[in-house]
Amino acid sequence: MSCERQLKGAKITGVGYYVPEKILTNADLEKIVDTSDKWIVERSGIRERHISSDDQAASDLAYEASLKALEKSGVKAEELDQIIVGTATSDMLFPATACLLQNMLGAKKAAAYDLTAACSGFIFGVSIADSMISSGKAEKILVVGVELLSRITDYTDRATCVLFGDGAGAAVIESCSPQEGILSTFIKTDGEYTDLLYLPGGGSRNPLTEESIKKGEQYIHMKGSELFKYAVKAMVQAAREALGSVGLGPEDVDFLIPHQANIRIIQGVRKRLKLKKEQVVINIDRMGNTSTASIPIALGELEESNIIKKGNLVLLVAFGGGLTWGSILFRK
Ligand SMILES: CC(C)(COP(=O)(O)OP(=O)(O)OC[C@H]1O[C@@H](n2cnc3c(N)ncnc32)[C@H](O)[C@@H]1OP(=O)(O)O)[C@@H](O)C(=O)NCCC(=O)NCCS
Repeated sequence: MSCERQLKGAKITGVGYYVPEKILTNADLEKIVDTSDKWIVERSGIRERHISSDDQAASDLAYEASLKALEKSGVKAEELDQIIVGTATSDMLFPATACLLQNMLGAKKAAAYDLTAACSGFIFGVSIADSMISSGKAEKILVVGVELLSRITDYTDRATCVLFGDGAGAAVIESCSPQEGILSTFIKTDGEYTDLLYLPGGGSRNPLTEESIKKGEQYIHMKGSELFKYAVKAMVQAAREALGSVGLGPEDVDFLIPHQANIRIIQGVRKRLKLKKEQVVINIDRMGNTSTASIPIALGELEESNIIKKGNLVLLVAFGGGLTWGSILFRK
């Protein structure tokens, strides 16, 4: 009798996204800080971003995106085995936003937990879901990327406040035959560069005090141009790893969905992978950088556009603070 484990496949069966109604344009930002529409568009590719209302929290955005993903997949919340939420702007430090979401959805059966991998959170979440499903530990997992970066953005700092937006994206991952769906995943971290993108205050190292708030430690600190150098290299590596591990190359890819941090990073990745413009999904102009939500939002938009067809090869590639980076390769 063989005691070999039979690996199953895992497949994205429904994607949903939600962005708040309020839009902050470059013209709005020109009134707040010393910047210009021209600088922002040329240096980042961003024209506008969505900003949450005061009464919205991560679980609210995640809930809206999750409802849509569940509807698309035809899976009922009660059927979910797990809920994984990637976020750095959870409702509270604990309980996990995933626990709040579990209750909102009525997903009674699901084990629910958050993970923090900055802008790579959704990719890390899908990678975990893929492992859980392929090893037979779960059948149906909801993965959410949600971020309210406006809550931790200093709107007096022109170097960061023009970049970020709020939003959520969700995907239902289900078991399938090993030949279908997710073909490979890749995740990677380099903790040597934590100082390039971080939130100094509010954790156990540096709890918020009147003094730390005066210093602005409740806000994102970013060394943008240094991060930029790593971003292109890391994303190209992640793309090649996911493809190479299953004997494929960039020439096989139909669509690349990169994390939307900067149009120049996206173009750099596209050129190095020798992809055509129309193969790369871009929404940074309308969304800004929504961190871990950016890839599932872009995937949701691609699905809605109907240009993606069954059998297409899709590559998701992220890079973010930590540093963290990773990729998911799947067959639609
Ligand atoms: C943030 C980012 C857009 C800045 O672009 P950049 O070309 O690197 O610009 P720099 O930071 O070198 O700044 C260049 C100049 O523009 C100025 N500047 C910065 N923000 C500005 C703004 N909003 N408006 C006008 N000028 C601005 C700077 O003060 C600097 O002026 P100086 O030369 O007089 O000092 C870019 O570095 C970036 O996208 N980095 C990567 C972000 C990323 O990958 N994040 C990780 C994943 S979330």
